[in-house]
Amino acid sequence: MDPAQANPRTARDDWWRTAAVYQVYVRSFADSDGDGIGDLQGIRSRLPYLRDLGVDALWLTPFYRSPMVDGGYDVADYREVDPMFGDLTDFDEMITDAHGLGLRIIVDIVPNHTSDVHPWFVAALAAAPGSAERDRYMFRDGRGEHGEEPPNDWESIFGGPAWTRLPDGQWYLHLFDPAQPDLNWRHPEVRAEFEQILRFWLDRGVDGFRIDVAHGMIKADGLPDIGWTSATTGRRQIELLGKGRLPYFDQDEVHDIYRAWRPILDSYPGGRMAVAEAWAETPQRLARYIGPDELHQAFNFDFLDATWSADSFHKVIDTALAEAAIVGAPTTWVLSNHDKQRHVTRYGDGEVGLRRARAAALLMFALPGSTYLYQGEELGLPEVLDLPDHLRQDPAFGRTGHSRDGCRVPLPWSGEDPPYGFGPAGSVESWLPAPAGWAPLTAQAQDGDPDSTLELYRRALAIRAEHPALRDAPAGDGTGLTWLEAGPGVLAFRRGDDGGTDTDGGAAGGADGGAHALICVVNLSGAPVPVDGYGVPLITSAPLDGPPRGRLLPVDAAAWFRPA
Ligand code: NOJ
Repeated sequence: MDPAQANPRTARDDWWRTAAVYQVYVRSFADSDGDGIGDLQGIRSRLPYLRDLGVDALWLTPFYRSPMVDGGYDVADYREVDPMFGDLTDFDEMITDAHGLGLRIIVDIVPNHTSDVHPWFVAALAAAPGSAERDRYMFRDGRGEHGEEPPNDWESIFGGPAWTRLPDGQWYLHLFDPAQPDLNWRHPEVRAEFEQILRFWLDRGVDGFRIDVAHGMIKADGLPDIGWTSATTGRRQIELLGKGRLPYFDQDEVHDIYRAWRPILDSYPGGRMAVAEAWAETPQRLARYIGPDELHQAFNFDFLDATWSADSFHKVIDTALAEAAIVGAPTTWVLSNHDKQRHVTRYGDGEVGLRRARAAALLMFALPGSTYLYQGEELGLPEVLDLPDHLRQDPAFGRTGHSRDGCRVPLPWSGEDPPYGFGPAGSVESWLPAPAGWAPLTAQAQDGDPDSTLELYRRALAIRAEHPALRDAPAGDGTGLTWLEAGPGVLAFRRGDDGGTDTDGGAAGGADGGAHALICVVNLSGAPVPVDGYGVPLITSAPLDGPPRGRLLPVDAAAWFRPA
């Protein structure tokens, strides 16, 4: 099928600017063969569900050959599918079907570190200190009289020292788990290898890459101490993130890598893109990753980290828009991912958390730029807080007591009991057990129920796809949002008055009055707020109170209006 017919939004080369991207945590999305583990054919079987949800693209977390110490972010072979997920033929079939439905595919690339069973690291361990094999990684001698102290004071993001000592006395660097040794990105072979890996997946038709730890590949010369450690301060080093430059993050030289990657992406037809998982000290430094000679996007995690208050959201939205203005391109918005507690639970859990999560979805979908959804948020899934410890698999759990497993529980598709149709009838229990009580949350139970979160997402994404105020990339500096005065605790803004790039050729705002504009109102105050002045409601996250006149937007709710 002509891709433009399947989905005109993703037929454009700059599809990523306004895309709704759905993150698939492959292991937990859908299981086709009944082994309790999600896989590529499982994704393939659910593509129509994703098309009907109204998303434009999927981001697949790593499905490469891996011992799965860190959920596949420990890659042993960057060109092979792990047998638990299928094989390359499954991948080809999945991407062909996705493209046929107008869905783009973004894959994860993990360049900061490999698995410790990657052939390069196995060779490095077998070789002597100072060998060419060790030079592809970050091996150093230790400090102290006998080299018994780590080479510097860096800490692993998963807790504990970032260095592990080998029996021959040398140490190697791992910013994450010891099973994830950091590569030496000053080594030309490392650079050449990843450029080939990009081409391998681009040749298979992928539309983009999500770059893991995109800010981490280059370490400061001399690997200097930080002088601020858990031992000296009682607080983990990673808490410095965003407060100052860490010598292992956001070094200027990292940009050389992306300046080499961009021509590779641009040499392929059809709008191939890259989105960075990057953390930097300031919005200005984050903005340096984006532009015509580097990457297309970077995640904006401040939105995810905002607390449930109008001030907090207002501030992070303004910061993100300022950032967008610096780079002249719309930003990204995300509420949940596979590393963070699900936002239903962050916002208070239970009924309150769900009300707020529904309102947050309408807020996010109305903002200028692209939006990243995490699988299961369209079902209103909460975090699973009571997983038994022995089932938790996050490598950080043992060292920090914090685990990310609760947001990685397999999706409930149908039926009354776990694993809720995650696999075919007769499947074994899913790799993390789904809790009792999720029957009302299955996709099947919510399908067609106008009050369900699934139907709210479908309606909102459909309006977002069609409405000229939301559909088109904002023109100019990429912001395209006007705040309205709405009283304490209430967020209200108008979209579509910026003369955005209206692909119909019609007026994007102004001349037609409100026909091309949209107003979003979110009530984070403690009391219902009158909303009659905003126009005709298009969608609400909770029913408006009161008669047709004198209508009130309830607490923790959001609505979109067509201005009069
Ligand atoms: C970020 C990924 O999102 C996370 O899941 C992973 O543990 C680390 N990078 C290390 O690769």
